[in-house]
Amino acid sequence: MKISVIGCGYLGAVHAAAMASIGHDVVGVDVDQRKVATLSQGHAPFFEPGLEDLLRAGRESGRLSFTTDMAEVVNASVHFIAVGTPQQRDSYAADLTFVDAAIDALLPFLKEGDIVAGKSTVPVGTATRLSGQVESTGATLVWNPEFLREGWAVKDTLEPDRLVVGVPDGAGGERAERALREVYGPAVKSGTPFLVTDLATAELVKVSANAFLATKISFINAMAEIAEVTGADVSKLAEAIGYDERIGRQFLKAGIGFGGGCLPKDIRAFSARAEELGRGESVAFLRQVDEINLRRRDRAVQLVVDGLGGSVFEKNVTVLGAAFKPHSDDIRDSPALDVAVRLHGLGANVTVTDPAAIENARRIHPQLTYVEGRDEAIRDADALVLVTEWDEYRRQLPPEHASSLTDGRVVVDGRNGLDAAAWRAAGWSYYGMGRP
Ligand code: UDX
Repeated sequence: MKISVIGCGYLGAVHAAAMASIGHDVVGVDVDQRKVATLSQGHAPFFEPGLEDLLRAGRESGRLSFTTDMAEVVNASVHFIAVGTPQQRDSYAADLTFVDAAIDALLPFLKEGDIVAGKSTVPVGTATRLSGQVESTGATLVWNPEFLREGWAVKDTLEPDRLVVGVPDGAGGERAERALREVYGPAVKSGTPFLVTDLATAELVKVSANAFLATKISFINAMAEIAEVTGADVSKLAEAIGYDERIGRQFLKAGIGFGGGCLPKDIRAFSARAEELGRGESVAFLRQVDEINLRRRDRAVQLVVDGLGGSVFEKNVTVLGAAFKPHSDDIRDSPALDVAVRLHGLGANVTVTDPAAIENARRIHPQLTYVEGRDEAIRDADALVLVTEWDEYRRQLPPEHASSLTDGRVVVDGRNGLDAAAWRAAGWSYYGMGRP
């Protein structure tokens, strides 16, 4: 099929490359000239395992191209909207400027029978608002939310655990459903559940999935707060409740909480939208989910202060990690970087290291010191703070090795990823999150 993808960020670039890899002819459109140039050369503009291979293969096959010129979508019959929906500067609501601009720019090139498939995460009601404009061209607007996780984006796109398509009533909707089944042919053939819904449900599926995941993380972090005043161990607690299949073990890792380009802004946008709909109370708990999440960053900072005897002023603190999670260079709303910035604000000499995110972090927080090599970063540290659980800092950092690099003996484990007993045995004062 001939496909266009409007917006080539984490979502769009991966989607475009993945669709080309399963045999479609794909053109990716973005307003950012540099990003388009990078992608056109077969390089990923951000860290995403497996993406470069797909980009190169797409380029060699001649089925994948990138452009800043919207007119090049004219031969495509399915157009995916994959632009960002960040949080508004002065409110919790989603900023839909990029979605609206993408639709406006696309309209002149739409033809009778085309399908426009929104992938961006939007407040419920957005698709219905935009339908009229799209339908005036003879095209049909559907919503096809994306559930990919950064770091696993290629796999999640090629082997999704479900496909959801919100379609309007009538012949246009039926045609769109058929077209999307064809677009996702290999996944559909392998038995991936394919759910067809109305537009509002499809929009809500995405935000409610993210709200649920955020709530699960904040739930376990709330338990960590209780563990901290009772001497209980939240890691053991998570393991024990996780054996209950109804609860499940995933997303019960207590620590400094969630960040990234999705969960934080999506739960806030959901709250804002629910308020607009007069149902603010239905998701009022999401405010608490957000608050619990942010409190855990304070807690990690406090543990460093306590570990260093009441003040971090002029102490050397090495922060292991900057990305919001491992296997990513994304620092959007990163709890890791937030902890580093706060420690710097308290007067610590903060050194940050990360295998992938230093360049991005330096751009936003040039006041911090960045060191690429892990061991060099650890040298002479008074305290180590693990904030992104890369294997380099977790599995591949024996405490004895850390001891050989510095005389400091304080380690704060913001992700509960270290073997507390081993670090203690090596002479370190170990502080976990919700662990004794
Ligand atoms: C998320 C959703 O998982 C994905 O389905 C959606 O499409 C986009 O948002 P992503 O932002 O890539 O994906 O990250 P995810 O892997 O969900 O992690 C989010 C944050 O939660 C990270 O900061 C991570 O460190 C944190 N987290 C995750 C925890 O603190 N504890 C956990 O148990 C799991």
